[in-house]
Amino acid sequence: MCGIVGYAGTEEACDILIESLKRLEYRGYDSAGIAIWNQGTIRTERKKGKVDELKKAVSDGTFQGSLGLAHTRWATHGTPSERNAHPHRAGDVVVVHNGIIENYLELKKELKKEGHEFLSDTDTEVIPHLIVHHMNKGEAFLDAVSASLKELKGSYALGIIREKERILVAAKKESPLIIGVGNGEYYLASDAPAIIKKTNRFIFLEDNDIAILKDNSLELTNTDGEKIERKIHQVQWSDAMAEKGGYKHFMLKEIFEQPRAISETLLGRAREEEGEIEFEEINLPDVQKINKIWMVACGTSYHACIIGKHIFEANLRIPVETDIASEFRYRDPIISKKDLLIVVSQSGETADTIAAMKEAKRKGAYVLSICNVLGSTLAREADSVIFTHAGPEIGVASTKAFTTQISVIFILMLYLGKRLGVLNSEDIKKHILELKKIPRKMQAILEMAPSVEEAARKYMHRKNFLYLGRGIHFPTVLEGALKLKEISYIHAEAYAAGEMKHGPIALIDEDMPVVFVAPVDQTYKKTCGNMEEVISRRGKIILFTDREDPEMQQRADSCFILPDTIYELQPILNVVPLQLLAYYIANLLGTDVDQPRNLAKSVTVE
Ligand code: AGP
Repeated sequence: MCGIVGYAGTEEACDILIESLKRLEYRGYDSAGIAIWNQGTIRTERKKGKVDELKKAVSDGTFQGSLGLAHTRWATHGTPSERNAHPHRAGDVVVVHNGIIENYLELKKELKKEGHEFLSDTDTEVIPHLIVHHMNKGEAFLDAVSASLKELKGSYALGIIREKERILVAAKKESPLIIGVGNGEYYLASDAPAIIKKTNRFIFLEDNDIAILKDNSLELTNTDGEKIERKIHQVQWSDAMAEKGGYKHFMLKEIFEQPRAISETLLGRAREEEGEIEFEEINLPDVQKINKIWMVACGTSYHACIIGKHIFEANLRIPVETDIASEFRYRDPIISKKDLLIVVSQSGETADTIAAMKEAKRKGAYVLSICNVLGSTLAREADSVIFTHAGPEIGVASTKAFTTQISVIFILMLYLGKRLGVLNSEDIKKHILELKKIPRKMQAILEMAPSVEEAARKYMHRKNFLYLGRGIHFPTVLEGALKLKEISYIHAEAYAAGEMKHGPIALIDEDMPVVFVAPVDQTYKKTCGNMEEVISRRGKIILFTDREDPEMQQRADSCFILPDTIYELQPILNVVPLQLLAYYIANLLGTDVDQPRNLAKSVTVE
């Protein structure tokens, strides 16, 4: 997820673009670039690192012109560097892009045959070359843009300018892009925070919309060049609110971003038609020879590992051992050269997980990392990496990284299953179909937020919470309890429900809220027994399940019926109301939700 801004007006564009870009830095901050049009010439500048580096490079006042584009990057294809930073150019066409072009390799191959030379490892660079390709065939610029858009597969928010004429073209498909309407000037932005200081009149572009800013006027068309109308929205947002896209906290925003983050993580990988999973980045050794899988991480990422054990063992019948990285690195684990170690991390910089990776590599295991940050240590030093495409996660309490990690683990299982011959294309088609329903089901759960907030208001003053679940729901409740602890500072313990009567049941009385994650599956009846044991000790049950059970619902103090899905994907759905419960309790208690005390977003020390 990157940040794009553009300006077409009468003012000097450079400072406007830099200031607006800075406000989008939470979307990505590994490199940045700018392009300014001035009397038939486009000057560009790109820098590795944060927007301030770029600002220094263009602060000599020579970047003049009242039309331009700028970009701050969150690398998905091509490591963070000046060469891979945007804008990208071909001929006199200059482009900035947010999104993922799935078929860029095929396009690049064809364009290279025509003599196009590529200077970066990005997917984006095919776009200006494709536009030039169409112009070389005699098409007018705007026709060449439309034709190129039709050839692109994937997601894009684009800003396009060219030297030969003073024009700014914007196009959108699946990635967010808005036009800010000023007085005789127009702004382009990935979202409102960038330009809220300039205008609060926005046009929210829709998929396949094209905006043409020329001679300080705006024209909207679709990809067939037909004129279209879009409403101008007046938005009443404060500055602080804008940065969070209207949400009070980054954590809440990131919880609500999960449906999109999962869709983006599947993009270009889960090929339903062919019943195939494709990972560009990985080159695993012969999977037939994998003797054992290890899954190692810290915190929330470790909970994803435990879920991975359930998913892999149930479907691949390969033994999986999970471990907390800070334990793994010192316990001299018995690892063979035939073992696959999977390290999971949002930041890719967690010291204990890096050390665990090095320990396993020292013992000859093959290391695959699942990570959210390109260019991070775990991404660079593992033998292979698969990226979650959650985008930058600013809130210290991890949310969307967790659900995208589980999505990657699930499609990795399908990928390995096919190569081990335990899953065929029909099986995979069926699973991909179910997975692709998750974003919509998650959206339905997010619409239950007000009733979760009500429950939060009811239990916010309790001093202790117990979280219980069986099987794959045990790591889900571990994650729920961790979220509550991290941001509300309330003591919360999670247990496998069957373990309750071996100790924690002693904690239960009328003041103890007990959160149960209990979808109606093979262990539901057993969990109902545990709920009875809690009720008979006057504990307050907060039940999250996936089917009506009037008997239990009536006995529970609060009950939420969530959309159902297959067993392996249940955690992705069931964790969402637990994230919301923790968020609302912390928000009601007034803690610093995004930067809770004593915590850091990336623990780079032991
Ligand atoms: C989770 O909300 C916490 N921020 C923390 O437990 C985190 O999951 C842990 O530090 C691991 O971080 P990583 O995923 O970046 O490696």
